[in-house]
Amino acid sequence: MTTLTSCADAPTVAERATRHVLSVLDRARAERGVAHLALSGGTTPGLTYELLARHPEELAAAELWFADERCVGPDDEESNYRLARETGLAGGACPEERVHRMEGELGPALGAKRYAELLHERLGESEGFSSVPVLDLVILGIGPDGHVASLFPGSPALQAPEQEICLPITDSPKPPPERITLSLPVLRAARGCLLLATGASKADAVDAMLGEPTPHVPASLLRRERLTVILDDDAAPGSGRR
Ligand code: 6PG
Repeated sequence: MTTLTSCADAPTVAERATRHVLSVLDRARAERGVAHLALSGGTTPGLTYELLARHPEELAAAELWFADERCVGPDDEESNYRLARETGLAGGACPEERVHRMEGELGPALGAKRYAELLHERLGESEGFSSVPVLDLVILGIGPDGHVASLFPGSPALQAPEQEICLPITDSPKPPPERITLSLPVLRAARGCLLLATGASKADAVDAMLGEPTPHVPASLLRRERLTVILDDDAAPGSGRR
């Protein structure tokens, strides 16, 4: 069953999200000695990353991954890695040697191939998985169209075979068009997804996410029983504040 928590405002969402992430990291560390956390980009999660960065000791066993990345360099203002770095999370509270950047500068195809190899290399021997790596937690935002990571409505990427764990995107409707994204099977195999949403522009997408699963709303295809949603009142389903 999806857990949904509504908060008064974005700072409260970030505080609640930080507590959730730290709790998941702590449990993963206790159970497996390591915690694999994947980050998304966009404007929503930055506050949460800033708060997480204040807990370097609780991130001691964390390996940072990315749910998606734009095909730009790491210093580009569009880079999701740059967001994680500038909030003090990547390369600060979590040292660079435990940060696994998607190499967007290689372009979609080669960047996706390299990242899939890295996931298999780093998660393969520890998880013993056949084809889909198991992350402990994926932090996601949601677009007004219901996209998550760089999986957009109706995209063929949503039908990718299970063994294709990291995908090139060349036609993102959200600029920039070229991206790298974890696949839906990887998001569904994760032990948990934490989806953050703030603002009235997300309310319809959240409504649709909780409705009938459909490729027209990628967020609706997440594993409901492993999904935690933390949002502000404006983004809450049926908030009526459109
Ligand atoms: C990206 C993100 C993307 C984002 C949503 C929501 O690289 O663009 O990973 O999936 O989470 O588009 O973006 P906002 O948080 O800016 O609304």
